[in-house]
Amino acid sequence: MSEAIVCVKDFEKHAYNVLPRNALDYYRSGAGAEETLAHNRKAFSKYKIRPRCLRNVAKRDLSTTVLGEKVQIPVGISPTAMQRMAHPEGECANARAAQAMGTIFTLSTIATSSIEEVAQAAPYGTKWFQLYIYNDRNVTRRLVERAEKAGFKALVLTVDTPMFGLRLADIRNKFVLPPHLKFANFAGDKATGINQTESGSGLNNYVNRLFDQSLEWKDIKWLQSFTKLPIVVKGVLTAEDALIAADLGVQGILVSNHGARQVDGTPASIEALPEIVRAVGDRVEVYMDGGITDGTDIFKALALGARMVFFGRPALWGLAHSGEEGVKKILNILKTELDYTMAITGCATVRDIDHRMVVHESYYSK
Ligand code: FNR
Repeated sequence: MSEAIVCVKDFEKHAYNVLPRNALDYYRSGAGAEETLAHNRKAFSKYKIRPRCLRNVAKRDLSTTVLGEKVQIPVGISPTAMQRMAHPEGECANARAAQAMGTIFTLSTIATSSIEEVAQAAPYGTKWFQLYIYNDRNVTRRLVERAEKAGFKALVLTVDTPMFGLRLADIRNKFVLPPHLKFANFAGDKATGINQTESGSGLNNYVNRLFDQSLEWKDIKWLQSFTKLPIVVKGVLTAEDALIAADLGVQGILVSNHGARQVDGTPASIEALPEIVRAVGDRVEVYMDGGITDGTDIFKALALGARMVFFGRPALWGLAHSGEEGVKKILNILKTELDYTMAITGCATVRDIDHRMVVHESYYSK
């Protein structure tokens, strides 16, 4: 690794210099004026760590269990679409990196590598499959069957996307997927309908045409009727929705504002986390993503009640740097930073990171 590259931010800077405009803007951008995008990160600094001393941290263990599976680190990979724009091996390289680090890789429905390709690339890693639901419900059924057959361990149903947010850069760039790539889980128009646009973002046009905007909470029952895989609902930001999801018997809730890409003006994911943990924390596993770029971010999210955290963009920056190696480096950096944070705050295991270790900054102005 070049000596200049020592943290996630360094990888991001590098990616800004090497990625083509169309891809960089798609990966980087948030919805609207991107206030929430900036806030996703800044909000972490509003939470302060209360370190404890002299608690024997000579032997440390960063592992945990998620949906009954052991993971070596409490940080995994969120689904991001179209990773082959960042590196020729795209999702396969990303999944291999997660496998090597003993953590979870989540494959997007609209990936540029197929379910089967990813399963073959990383046969031993824990893989989850993210679902977008198309108007044609048989499409979803078929994807679920393929994910089950390929050994994926959970379905991540994204619930915040009846439409995709208005990402201004993509509208300006008339974003399309380059012609040598396609949505690899599909054939025909669903695979290549993203390669052209008459006007505006080709992705918005594709989604508006093909995704089911009529989805309701009861459709989770429909999903449960034909799969035994655990369901994680991704994109919940309120206690109200978290309670509905818990009542429907989902196994996990991923607190997320979709990397600030859906509607500008939502809270940061880390701000929404506490109300959701309060509402359902002992009934359903709660995870979060959005703005994680440092080991202290992971520590704060765990203290606020997340069982596991995930990240999206940093893996794209890792891919753009050096494919599988780049993502492994990112995961290793976050692991080292979390390990240091745990040692210095008196936490030998992730179970020691309890809710008293992190407070909102207002605690200190009382
Ligand atoms: C996403 N996200 C996303 N989510 C999802 O459920 N399915 C998808 O296909 C995608 N695609 C996607 C592409 C890109 C380029 C980004 C940046 C994000 C959202 C993603 O899973 C996750 O919620 C955010 O990326 C988390 O924020 P950070 O870690 O990028 O700050």
